[in-house]
Amino acid sequence: MTPNYKNPELSIKERVEDLLSRMTVEEKVAQMTQVSVNMVSADEADVYAEKGIGSFLHSLGDTTRRLKQIASNTRLGIPLIFGIDAIHGHSLHNGCTMYPSQLGVSCSWDEEKIHEMGKITAREAAEEGLHWLFSPVLCVGRDLRWGRIDETFGEDPYLIGELGYSIIRGYQSENLAAACAKHYLGYGESVGARDSYDSQISDRKIRECFLPPFKRAVEAESMTFMVGYESIDGLPMSANRKFLRDVLKDELGFAGFSVTDWCNIEGLHARQFVANDLRDASKIAVEAGNDMSMNSLGFMEHVIDMAKSGELDMKYIDDSVRRILAVKFKLGLFDGIEQRIPHGCTACEEHITACKALTDECPVLLENNGILPLGSKYKKIAVIGPNADNVKAQYGDWTYFSHPDANPNAVPKEELYTMLRGMKTVFSDAEVRYTRGCDVMDPTDQNIKEAVALANDSDVVVAVLGDCLDQNGESKDRCNLEITGAQLDLLKQLKATGKPVVVILVNGKPLCIGEVRDNCDALLETFNSGAYGGLSAAKILRGDCNPEGKLTISFPRNAGQIPVYYNQYAGWHSNPKTGGYCDCPPDALYPFGYGLSYNNYTYANMQVSKTSVTPDDTIEVSVDITNNGGRDGNEIVQLYVNDKVSSVCTPVKQLRGFQRAFIKAGQTITVTIPLSVSDLWIVNREEEYIVEAGEFELMIGKSSLDRDLLTQTIRCTETRRLSSSC
Ligand code: NOJ
Repeated sequence: MTPNYKNPELSIKERVEDLLSRMTVEEKVAQMTQVSVNMVSADEADVYAEKGIGSFLHSLGDTTRRLKQIASNTRLGIPLIFGIDAIHGHSLHNGCTMYPSQLGVSCSWDEEKIHEMGKITAREAAEEGLHWLFSPVLCVGRDLRWGRIDETFGEDPYLIGELGYSIIRGYQSENLAAACAKHYLGYGESVGARDSYDSQISDRKIRECFLPPFKRAVEAESMTFMVGYESIDGLPMSANRKFLRDVLKDELGFAGFSVTDWCNIEGLHARQFVANDLRDASKIAVEAGNDMSMNSLGFMEHVIDMAKSGELDMKYIDDSVRRILAVKFKLGLFDGIEQRIPHGCTACEEHITACKALTDECPVLLENNGILPLGSKYKKIAVIGPNADNVKAQYGDWTYFSHPDANPNAVPKEELYTMLRGMKTVFSDAEVRYTRGCDVMDPTDQNIKEAVALANDSDVVVAVLGDCLDQNGESKDRCNLEITGAQLDLLKQLKATGKPVVVILVNGKPLCIGEVRDNCDALLETFNSGAYGGLSAAKILRGDCNPEGKLTISFPRNAGQIPVYYNQYAGWHSNPKTGGYCDCPPDALYPFGYGLSYNNYTYANMQVSKTSVTPDDTIEVSVDITNNGGRDGNEIVQLYVNDKVSSVCTPVKQLRGFQRAFIKAGQTITVTIPLSVSDLWIVNREEEYIVEAGEFELMIGKSSLDRDLLTQTIRCTETRRLSSSC
């Protein structure tokens, strides 16, 4: 008779319980084990599969098929789930639809297109038999020295939560893949921005700033979470029962399973020294609430042994296995998911078109003295700089060039446009000539003379500068955020020719670009813009496309100023009256929410539907926006709030709503953004989410800068503790 767990007519709960009741301790603990195929030999991987381990990661191509086959022949035939870092498209696969980095796409503030990006990525990974995407990163990008800023959605917890929600829903929309919200929790905030180190954050602060995006991930029903490497105030996250079990599973109601990051459990013993050995570490980790162990080889044997001897309570193991099996059933891994996979979808026309449309919305215009758009009047264009024809810098981290086995000499199979190719394509009626000018990092590797000669013989210079793969990514934290190598020298000498200079930045994170700004006529930030970044930037330069992106992360004037995020507490060095350094202005060079357009949008007539409110109310904040420019365009409208007096310090302003508004040339429209009064929560000293009675400022406008915002005050007449977390 067919066992119940194989019967798709039964509920997931019934199938899980049936299967669990048939499993031995060994089979259960095997499900809690994940191994990277790059860490073991092919034979060893086969043995793991024969033992019925739950998951492999970083498997590509034939390996996946072979291991699946072995798993299907085990006693219970529990399918494997394969994890992959498909973080900007299925980017470890040469030939995928290669999207801009998370930081890049965040600048579009486009929830719909980011949802679509998720859907497309899931399809392309699924086509390769991979149904678990280690994405999105919901870390809050506040310390710009951190090497993984490029992987974040920027610095604002609210925006990160909303974009995270969209991409998770997208990943899981066709039930072809599970998302993995990571890195839970406070990972990006380590002391000195040293990757995987200790974060000195209070639990109150975690709830205020770092937990909310993960709460949104639970609301989006993210099937999995990844536990970060870091410790918080001395307690490694993998051992943090409060946040892994009590908060995530009990308080927030997370129904999926958690996986550790790479060798976290081993790290409890070998790096963080809170466990005597791997056995001790495995016990701590399982009890704390880690459901699956990534790559701590030996975990499986120790846990089996401890379960059998009674040292480890089976209730923890059963809870983890239930969660893992439930995800596998939910995805249909037992029920022929293969039949639902859209074969032939990888880099298909539909996917490419969607990727191009999103990429067009991402670049942020930071400066323009009127030189842009270039139109068709310049006949000789010099494209100069180390990132002009540098696909690796343009793609950024987590592609087949850098992971899982770095292949820097890979020849891309997908169609791609570097900045140079984009310029040549879009300005096909002009003579576009190129020289590299200098290296990104090595100051001795330069040929500035040749670059100056080319500039002198051209009508306009497009200088493409930035950073490179060696300056971004895991363990590539920087203490210096200046433009490196001879790039500034190159730029200054190009500017000295008297030719107009447009700078395109290709970089993983905000750099100190004051001198770049001072030596150009226009400045376009593109971050790591993926396969079509060159096309989008060139279209913007020509004027075929209006720049619409706005920054989701603030740019410092100087690395010593960090942090420069906009939502700082009053009285700190963000305050222009009382704050600042004696040798540097207090504010960011370019703040969160900032970005220019070829149109000029004006805001007027701010209205609030109700000014005396209670926490039960939802009010509407509206404003009239006029597009004074000559093009139809999208404007990103931002709503901020400020609690004027509260029991603890709160941010001077905090994003609580936004909208991409389409406005035709010359038209005025009214944009209305709803605001639940309960969203005016703060976290008090008792770690409670609470709305406190009193006055609140609501601000609406085009950026986080005071000068760009209209303000109205409302009064909340009641103090209320919220039942849910935030
Ligand atoms: C380490 C990284 O921190 C994480 O983001 C990634 O998903 C895993 N390794 C797997 O590659």
